[in-house]
Amino acid sequence: MKIAWGITGAGHLLLDSVELLEKISKNHNVTVLLSAAGEEVLKMYGLYERVEMITGGYYNELVKENDQKFSFPITGRFSLGKYDLLIVSPTTSNTIGKIANGIADSLLTNAVAQAGKGKVKTVIVPVDLESGDLETVLPSKLELDLCQRCEVCEAAAACPGNAITPGIEIDLLKCQGCGACAVACPFSAISAGRLITIYMREIDIANTAKLYEFEDLEVIEHPSMLKDHLNL
Ligand SMILES: Cc1cc2nc3c(=O)[nH]c(=O)nc-3n(C[C@H](O)[C@H](O)[C@H](O)COP(=O)(O)O)c2cc1C
Repeated sequence: MKIAWGITGAGHLLLDSVELLEKISKNHNVTVLLSAAGEEVLKMYGLYERVEMITGGYYNELVKENDQKFSFPITGRFSLGKYDLLIVSPTTSNTIGKIANGIADSLLTNAVAQAGKGKVKTVIVPVDLESGDLETVLPSKLELDLCQRCEVCEAAAACPGNAITPGIEIDLLKCQGCGACAVACPFSAISAGRLITIYMREIDIANTAKLYEFEDLEVIEHPSMLKDHLNL
């Protein structure tokens, strides 16, 4: 199958999505489409290189929003019916809100709009599905209550991206998610993958609900449910 897989800037369900993407890339042609935030967030969680590794070649491209101009010509492939399936996983509240309201002004919202026009089946895994609290995972974080403000910060010295301001914070836009800081800090003041609880906003749930009315578009709860579509 020729599959396009979109990744937006959500930390939630990101690892599950990348793991499944790696699996399906062994048996299918997969073009990966990265929103600008998707690219940043993949790096923060240390997953960018894993996605880069499985791409390369015609219909196996890594398409980055940042390399595109405003009309996203690559998404013409969908209106021409060149793909069998478009998957967007994970899908941020932002991208869901735009799709639900017919907006197409980014790489992934254009992909979904053009897939609709080309009758390409689309499967969306939203981060906001049901009201209430949701447990999600953070990227690397400097825990100030554990930081001893050492004269020489070993975590900062170990960081290849120079992302740590000792005693203050990690600049996530410089962080590569490698985890070297967490290993180097003798006081375990860097957490990686800490779970936090966030509250799902009603507006985001309502936007997701609108997608159930779209033709040729299916909303599923978790990337693992994609296995049914992909004969895994
Ligand atoms: C570390 C990190 C994790 C994020 N996780 C989520 C998330 O799980 N869900 C979400 O809706 N937005 C999340 N965001 C915010 C989005 O990246 C942001 O809204 C972005 O503008 C979305 O753009 P996109 O929809 O084009 O990818 C996260 C941001 C950061 C920095």
